Amino acid sequence: MNALLRTEKLNRAFGSLVVTSDVDLEILPGERHALIGPNGAGKTSFVNQLGGQLQPSSGRILFKGEDIAGLAPEAICRRGIARTFQKNNLFRGLSVRENVRLAVQAHRGNIYQALRSIQADRGLWERADELLASVGLHGDAERKVSELSYGEQRQLEIAIALASEPELLLLDEPTSGMSPSETDGMIALVRGLPKSLALLMIEHDMKVVFSLADRITVLYYGAVLASGTPTEIQASARVREVYLGEAH
Ligand SMILES: Nc1ncnc2c1ncn2[C@@H]1O[C@H](COP(=O)(O)OP(=O)(O)O)[C@@H](O)[C@H]1O
Ligand SMILES: [Mg+2]
Repeated sequence: MNALLRTEKLNRAFGSLVVTSDVDLEILPGERHALIGPNGAGKTSFVNQLGGQLQPSSGRILFKGEDIAGLAPEAICRRGIARTFQKNNLFRGLSVRENVRLAVQAHRGNIYQALRSIQADRGLWERADELLASVGLHGDAERKVSELSYGEQRQLEIAIALASEPELLLLDEPTSGMSPSETDGMIALVRGLPKSLALLMIEHDMKVVFSLADRITVLYYGAVLASGTPTEIQASARVREVYLGEAH
């Protein structure tokens, strides 16, 4: 199968600090790929380059065969890569449904704004409701974002990311700060996402990683230490030595 995304010798440095070092990483269509590694290993910097929030120093990022390295975040999003952030950008005073509707409208763009027809408007609300159902928030549509629990806000962020109809979703620590029951909810949510959607998730919680990932890549000082199936990663002496053996 052709890779959906492939990085080739991706490099990024901040001055003399190399945070991405010749990274070759491949994500297949529909694959659930976990990116793990100690704090400061370069996971967020890597994902930021895929999303366009950080410019690579060198190398290529091929998405559906085209190099997207260095494109603006909006251009990358339009091509089919969406993401969530560790700090969310939700409109706290608006309802859950209004937040998702705005994201759907942003994706559907000017045609809908120009038409302003009742049908177009209804289409936006319907799509917003579908997205809320897909993350388990259909019962919370009319609540204000400020009334949501932390875990529910993270669910909402995923609905908003899905509004752009991505083929690849980047999740930066989707369970960080969650209680054990919220974490279980997030595992179920991610499992229930369409199988056609590929995921790259940065995750510290090994329970989440081993519950969800088809493949795991371990970053260490910006470079790929190992990449393989969960079984292969668990069996790797080198990975255990530098990472899995550590207390987290
Ligand atoms: N804007 C920046 N300027 C300088 N150094 C940075 C910047 N962003 C990240 N770093 C450094 O890059 C390294 C990797 O950080 P990061 O990608 O956030 O790692 P991770 O997500 O794996 O914890 C860290 O040493 C961090 O301090
Ligand atoms: Mg990080």
